[in-house]
Amino acid sequence: AAGTVTIGIDDIELATSHHVVRLDDFAEANGTDPNKFRLGLGQDEFSFPAPDEDVVTMAAAAAAPIIQRSGTEGIRTMLFATESGIDQSKAAGMAVHSLLDLPSQMRVVEVKEACYSATAALQAAVGIVTRSPGQRVLVIASDVARYALDSPGEPTQGAGAVAMLVSADPKLLEIEPVSGLNSADVDDFWRPNDSTTAIVDGALSVTAYLDALTGAWTDLAAQGGPEMAEIDRVLYHQPFTKMAKKAQVHLAGLTGEDLDTEIVAGGSGAAGTDVSNVAAAGPRDTGLATSTLYNRRLGNSYTASLYAGLCSLLDHDEDLAGKRIGLFSYGSGSVGEFFTARVVPGYEQHSRRQAVTEALDARVPLSIDEYRALHAAELSSAEDVSTPKVTAGPFRFAGIKGRARLYERA
Ligand code: HMG
Repeated sequence: AAGTVTIGIDDIELATSHHVVRLDDFAEANGTDPNKFRLGLGQDEFSFPAPDEDVVTMAAAAAAPIIQRSGTEGIRTMLFATESGIDQSKAAGMAVHSLLDLPSQMRVVEVKEACYSATAALQAAVGIVTRSPGQRVLVIASDVARYALDSPGEPTQGAGAVAMLVSADPKLLEIEPVSGLNSADVDDFWRPNDSTTAIVDGALSVTAYLDALTGAWTDLAAQGGPEMAEIDRVLYHQPFTKMAKKAQVHLAGLTGEDLDTEIVAGGSGAAGTDVSNVAAAGPRDTGLATSTLYNRRLGNSYTASLYAGLCSLLDHDEDLAGKRIGLFSYGSGSVGEFFTARVVPGYEQHSRRQAVTEALDARVPLSIDEYRALHAAELSSAEDVSTPKVTAGPFRFAGIKGRARLYERA
């Protein structure tokens, strides 16, 4: 409304890793039907980091173009969301702060609650900008999803980072004030301090996710949020894109609305496939297929996954101006949040489609033997090492010295 300050996402970028594992190769090596992954999970590939990449290098790569475009003026806070952090104490954002030469007059912290925490960071950023509309907040979600070799979760690994600049009068998305929330203490997925891979009860995680969707949706209504008929598109956390389909089926059941539950048909996974604007009678298209195009190729990027879905939607749907998007964020353990946002007219002038598609296409495929060797290799912080230069990305993890991790511009 006139006179009120709108707050939300002014800029957003997606970055991923140097390597990719193709699930067709994975299926062949494991003697599995490739359709189990393409159709059963809705995944074609997963990103896999080179030895000189981690959550810091991907985060810096995602944030760098944003800082380049709009400078650091008014940025006094960086909130770094991750569940694959690189230290038990120091925030991963400190290394990003240094790599990007950000101002000293900033607060930099890391936030954690499985895949959910980027949404907590986004809401905290909105709060900061509400109090101080001249400030801008850099929110970064960056994760490497790792499961044990030969476990059911393995084909749902992935890696990616999304950086977002939260400001008043944003150019992309105005975040609306009402949220539906749901927390429940459940051991569906977690990672003990001494483990580099997640522990997961797959079946429980799927039901815990859907239960959180029920709880958050019900709370959204109780808080006076919009009804389904007033929501044009819906985005979900995507551990694998078939999970978004399951969530869509679930939401259709909760709301009694006939929603389109198709994810990309054919499984080519080409991010160039334009599936938007298909005028057809029948179930309502809320952007499910459009929002899963990038994630099908990234794999799970945990905290970044919902926002990678947002990038996919913004980059492939030309009819979003003024439309309301519902976003369901889920983190195991568990927290669910359903919130809404309005797309700002002109958003399409800021498409990432070409850059993201190029980055996805440029990833260097690993053979299954190479991938398994990289997965098994674990660096101990006790030894000083220099990592070999592999990544073609702008920043790299240079090695360990005196138990501290070192980063540099590549
Ligand atoms: P699985 O062993 O692959 O399960 O594990 P499955 O055998 O039931 O197969 C999966 C689907 O493929 C099934 O379809 C099969 O029918 C189908 P569905 O019943 O689900 O509709 N299928 C085929 N389809 C076509 N052609 C074929 C074929 N074969 C089978 N030939 C599981 C699946 C999700 C459990 C596993 O991948 C896993 O453990 N993943 C990790 C956990 C996870 O992603 N959970 C999701 C919810 S929790 C969450 O989202 C949070 C999370 O991101 C972490 C965080 O918050 O930090 C994970």
